[in-house]
Amino acid sequence: MGEPFSIPRDMNHADPRYLEAKRSLDSRARSRRIREKLLAALPEKPTIVEIGCGTGTILPQLVEWGVDRGRYRGVDTAEHLIAFAQDARTAEFRHEGIPVTEQEQGFTVGELSVTFEQADGLEVLETTPDVDLVIGQAFGDLVGVSKLVTGLESALAPGGLAYLPITFDGGTIFQPDHPADRAVEQAYHEFIDAEPGRDSQAGRHLAEAFRRRKGDLLGMAGSDWILRPHGGTYPVDEGYVLRTILDFIESALSERTGSDRTDWLATRRGQLAARELTYVAHQYDLLYQLPGS
Ligand SMILES: C[S@@+](CC[C@H](N)C(=O)[O-])C[C@H]1O[C@@H](n2cnc3c(N)ncnc32)[C@H](O)[C@@H]1O
Repeated sequence: MGEPFSIPRDMNHADPRYLEAKRSLDSRARSRRIREKLLAALPEKPTIVEIGCGTGTILPQLVEWGVDRGRYRGVDTAEHLIAFAQDARTAEFRHEGIPVTEQEQGFTVGELSVTFEQADGLEVLETTPDVDLVIGQAFGDLVGVSKLVTGLESALAPGGLAYLPITFDGGTIFQPDHPADRAVEQAYHEFIDAEPGRDSQAGRHLAEAFRRRKGDLLGMAGSDWILRPHGGTYPVDEGYVLRTILDFIESALSERTGSDRTDWLATRRGQLAARELTYVAHQYDLLYQLPGS
C-alpha cells in the first residue's frame, strides 16, 4: 500500500496496475462452461476484435485455450494502455517460452497475428465487417447496452460470436456487515448510472437485449469476483484491486453527505489494511451468436 499513482484516482479503469491486478480474479471468475461453448463454436483461424482490451490480459488466456491461429486486434481508447499491452504481452509470452515474432505492426505468437491500437471500440465495430469473434471483457457497463449490441451485430460475420465475460451487474457486496452498506451500494450504483453510457446493471440488460435480437444467446453464467483475504493476506496483487474499488466508491460518495458514509469508508479502509475485508462484485459472462448465412 501507499505507492504514488500516475493517473487520477477517480472512476478510472485505465490504470495498468489495476488491470493487471484483477487478472487473477478474472481467471477465477470466468465461467468454464461459457468458455467451452465459445471454443466449440469458433472457426479454426478466427478474426478476433477485442474492444476495451486494456492491457491485453485476455490474449495469453486465448493462446492457453488453444486459440493460436488467425488474427487478434485489441483496441482501447487509452493510448498508454496500448503501449503497455504491446510490451507486457510480448514479454510475458517470451518469459513463458512461447516464441514471439515482432512484425512491422504488432507481433505474431504461434500462428496468431496480434495488434494493439488506440481507437474507440464502438467506432471499430461500426467500420470492421466479417469479424468471427468480438470480445468485451469488463466492458459492457461502459458504453450503453443498445449501442454495444448494434455495434456487435454490425461487426460480426454470419455465425459470428460476441464473448462478454465479467460484465458488471449491480451487486457490490462487502463483509463484515456495516450499517451503511445498503446506502453506500445504492449511491455507488447511482453514481455509475449517472455517467453517460454507463449501466450498473449491464449484465442483465445485455441478456435481455440479446433475447430480443435475431441471434442466439448461447450462454449466460455468473462470473462474480470473490475477493477475500486468505491466510492473513490477499492473493497476488488483489489488495490493490480492493483499494481501487474503495477509491471508486469514494468518488461516488463525495457528492453525498452523512457521517455513516464517512465512517463506512474509514472502516472499510481499516479492514483492508488489516486484511479483514471481503468484496464480491456480481457479474455475468455472456456468449451471443449471430445466425449463420
Ligand atoms: C474495466 S477496463 C477492462 C479492460 C480489459 N478488458 C480487462 O478486462 O482487463 C475497461 C477498458 O475499456 C476502455 N474503454 C472505455 N471506453 C472505451 C471505448 N469506447 N472504446 C474502447 N475502449 C474503451 C478503458 O480505457 C479500459 O481500458
